[in-house]
Amino acid sequence: MESAILPDFSSSLPDRGHSSAVPCRFVILVSGQGSNMQAIVQACREQGWPADIVAVIANREEAAGLAWAQAQGIETACVPHRDYSSREAFDQALADAIDRYSPDYVLLAGFMRVLTPGFVRHFEHRLVNIHPSLLPAFPGLHTHAQALAKGVQVHGCTVHFVTPLLDSGPIIAQGAVPILAGDAPEALAQRVLQVEHRIYPQVARWLSEGRVEMGEAGRVEVQGVESRFFYGGDVQITGGQQ
Ligand code: GRF
Repeated sequence: MESAILPDFSSSLPDRGHSSAVPCRFVILVSGQGSNMQAIVQACREQGWPADIVAVIANREEAAGLAWAQAQGIETACVPHRDYSSREAFDQALADAIDRYSPDYVLLAGFMRVLTPGFVRHFEHRLVNIHPSLLPAFPGLHTHAQALAKGVQVHGCTVHFVTPLLDSGPIIAQGAVPILAGDAPEALAQRVLQVEHRIYPQVARWLSEGRVEMGEAGRVEVQGVESRFFYGGDVQITGGQQ
């Protein structure tokens, strides 16, 4: 029975309410440059969402996103995965570091670790990820190379709730870009990234405004929003035939 394996989101998304006076607390996890995190921070500030980015946490000291966040006056922390002998021990330390900030939502933004089921359960209904493909196509790594190898003509990115099954949770929004003749994975990645910088801040804003709900059969609904599809056909073309 399909319904037996779907997580029950019905009663447990953080209750933000549409006009919540209390800012939504986001913790953002990064492993690298953190350009999605930067896009979220900037949009939050420029657009005045009812939200605070209360911390940026990385699993690598050298993550460029950590230095950027620090320079912005955002609290940062690092939980180096190499310091832990098992995935479970790392995830426990990471969960402890996150819990110190009591977030409403934890946003994975280029956080390059597979998380244990225990960690995912701990943050159930509060853990959101961006994946660089149009899920359910191309879960896992090297998504741009996978798309080119299959010859698909449309590619993109997905923001979704995280469930224990990798890259399979309920979809909140998707963005698409064309694949162009002569595309290399790197050029395609850059094109997709530009759309990521549109859709992840938009989803974070919806979360902060309390618009995101779970509808029937574990599918997301966003109140007051007609389309959760973003077309990135106008993004700057780098590489490929123009
Ligand atoms: C993005 O493509 C994201 O979808 C993937 O890793 C990349 C991270 O980029 N998970 P950044 O660190 O946000 O710049």
